[in-house]
Amino acid sequence: MSLENKTVVIIGASSGIGLALTHAIAREGAIVIMCSRSIDKLNHARETILGNVEVIAVDVTQESDVINLFAQIDSLDHLIITAATNELENRERFTELSTDKAQRSFDKFWGHFYAAREAAPKIALGGSITFFSGLSAFKPAKQGMAVLAAVNGAIATLGRSLALELAPIRVNVVAPGVVDTAVWDSLSEAEYNAMIVGMQQSLPARHVGTADDIAQSVLYLMTNPYTTGIVLTVDGGLLLT
Ligand SMILES: NC(=O)c1ccc[n+]([C@@H]2O[C@H](COP(=O)([O-])OP(=O)(O)OC[C@H]3O[C@@H](n4cnc5c(N)ncnc54)[C@H](OP(=O)(O)O)[C@@H]3O)[C@@H](O)[C@H]2O)c1
Repeated sequence: MSLENKTVVIIGASSGIGLALTHAIAREGAIVIMCSRSIDKLNHARETILGNVEVIAVDVTQESDVINLFAQIDSLDHLIITAATNELENRERFTELSTDKAQRSFDKFWGHFYAAREAAPKIALGGSITFFSGLSAFKPAKQGMAVLAAVNGAIATLGRSLALELAPIRVNVVAPGVVDTAVWDSLSEAEYNAMIVGMQQSLPARHVGTADDIAQSVLYLMTNPYTTGIVLTVDGGLLLT
């Protein structure tokens, strides 16, 4: 299935995996509608892209923003949601985690919910939706990740269920392991180096994921007509360790 002249909406397109995806999909000849909260970040990102792209500012956690976004789009072929906001800020021991912080972690889930619900009626035959979960849903970690893991689990389950309910729209989920993007910017330099270098040495693939590695996986999910309802872990083998 070619992406030539297809319309692809990417929410979370101004950095990291969403930006790498925008580059890859625009190279395939698609029209990419890049969305994220900051119009400045979007415009800056747009300057780096060769191809047909538009930018629209939207906060995917705000239902009215998402409704307005899809009111501006007559039809689309593929939707991808990578957006997640300040995920690592709410990492605290479970017994010390406030209800308020735990509930804010679920913003990521609601973003996926609003976007899929508003986009689905406008997705053309042969189209797809790709959600972003995370490996934490399947390989729980010790340090304050319980709620984030639950959010990622909810997104994966929503995606698999929608593959049936929204058929023939294909719905798939990507669960990345550690990917070297701005998500880790809140770590100290020492923490970051320890994690990335440690992963590099211990992962079966001996390689820490890049945004381009994940973009390649999403291209497969979007264009393979026999692929729906799967949760694709792209993790260098982390799940096995
Ligand atoms: N990187 C990893 O190691 C890793 C591991 C597991 C799972 N993941 C998942 O992979 C996905 C992508 O992560 P990434 O590493 O590419 O992150 P990133 O580099 O931080 O990019 C996040 C993107 O989402 C946008 N965004 C954030 N909040 C938003 C909101 N409320 N509404 C609309 N756009 C919003 C950001 O732009 P603005 O600031 O302009 O809004 C940015 O474009 C996330 O769902 C993350 O949970 C990543």
